[in-house]
Amino acid sequence: MNVVGGNSLIAVYPGSFDPVTNGHLDIIERASKLVDKLYVSVLSNKSKNCLFSVEERMNLLKMITCDFPNIEVTSFYGLLIDYAKIMNANLIIRGLRAVTDFEFEFQLALTNRSINPDIETLFISSSTKYLFLSSSIVKEIAYFGGNIDDMVPHQIKDILLDKVKD
Ligand code: PNS
Repeated sequence: MNVVGGNSLIAVYPGSFDPVTNGHLDIIERASKLVDKLYVSVLSNKSKNCLFSVEERMNLLKMITCDFPNIEVTSFYGLLIDYAKIMNANLIIRGLRAVTDFEFEFQLALTNRSINPDIETLFISSSTKYLFLSSSIVKEIAYFGGNIDDMVPHQIKDILLDKVKD
């Protein structure tokens, strides 16, 4: 039973997660409390130049979510809204940081709703301490030898540092 006490809530939290940051983990933890089932779903898109492969990104997510009984890490290819339907999801979760996120996120949500109005997008506001955080910034700091201790889950810190050395 979800917090609303109604029908089962099944949500997809999609993203590139290249790599997952503490900002993502914060959204994952909070979303998992709201819904019955949460799919954390990695976009498999060959046109995006990612540091980690889809399998690697999924493994990192699995490492940090293994203690959550209602979370499953998956990947998808193609349209998010079609994938959400295949997974029987009634919600898409997106994290919102600053105003700069809003335009893209609003466009994404409206486009998805125009394709399938049965699936709602739920925005979860970022915690203040992660407002500035993004995977790109974390990769850049790691690449130039900066301190990423507070930015990524401790399990993946060394994996990221090794990866940027390659
Ligand atoms: O973490 P990101 O990179 O901001 O996530 C973006 C994501 C994966 C949510 C978005 O690119 C997406 O949904 N891609 C799948 C293709 C799609 O459905 N596009 C929206 C309709 S045009």
